[in-house]
Amino acid sequence: MGALNPTDEQQVVLQRAERGATLKIKAYAGAGKTSTLKMLADRRTHLRGRFLAFNKAIAESAKAKFPKNVQCSTWHSLAYRQVDPYLTQKLNQPKERPQDLASRYGLGPMRLPSIMGKTVELSAYQLGAIIADSTGRFCRSAQKEPDTRHIQVSDMLDDRTADEFKAFILPHVKRHWEECLSRDSRAGISPDVYLKVWELSQPIIHADFLLCDEMPE
Ligand SMILES: Nc1ncnc2c1ncn2[C@@H]1O[C@H](COP(=O)(O)OP(=O)(O)OP(=O)(O)O)[C@@H](O)[C@H]1O
Ligand SMILES: [Mg+2]
Repeated sequence: MGALNPTDEQQVVLQRAERGATLKIKAYAGAGKTSTLKMLADRRTHLRGRFLAFNKAIAESAKAKFPKNVQCSTWHSLAYRQVDPYLTQKLNQPKERPQDLASRYGLGPMRLPSIMGKTVELSAYQLGAIIADSTGRFCRSAQKEPDTRHIQVSDMLDDRTADEFKAFILPHVKRHWEECLSRDSRAGISPDVYLKVWELSQPIIHADFLLCDEMPE
């Protein structure tokens, strides 16, 4: 298939990139974003490029389509190769069950007042799940350490109760994050943990230009 003729919008992107600008393309699904990245790559075959995506299928498809000077992979596979192997070895371990996590942290079922005047009951399982979920949200955030923004609670709780609950849970989330990093903990981790560890290490990506497909907001 021959090269596409850029649309007016794609032309604007190519021109701005030509001037060395860092830019973000925001457009509807199927509007031609990935194709625009390929147009950028095709105009830079004399340089070393790097294409990164969060989705493996997108990275594989780019590998087939993009010129050879552009190395295509997922963010996760780039991070995987650069973090300490003790961490990625934990990917093969079973994850701790939420109820076991809660019990190890000394958390039993909790009852909290709801906005409707009734009580919201949280089981030990749910508390463990909230902690693990918060660690995941932190990993996918731009923050350097877990904070209350990463903790999601039932919208049945009034604002004050929700704030108090989050303040109560936060130390447990921090402990969980520390355990994810620890060489002593044998519990399994999710891939977002090593991606976050890599991000916090302020890695340098060796390339003349970077193409990032499907960036989070
Ligand atoms: N300038 C163009 N001329 C003709 N066809 C184009 C042009 N740009 C993109 N297309 C076609 O439009 C379709 C969608 O393009 P593309 O996959 O780049 O969109 P996208 O915005 O990355 O989509 P998604 O949101 O699904 O990732 C493809 O079939 C592509 O070949
Ligand atoms: Mg795309």
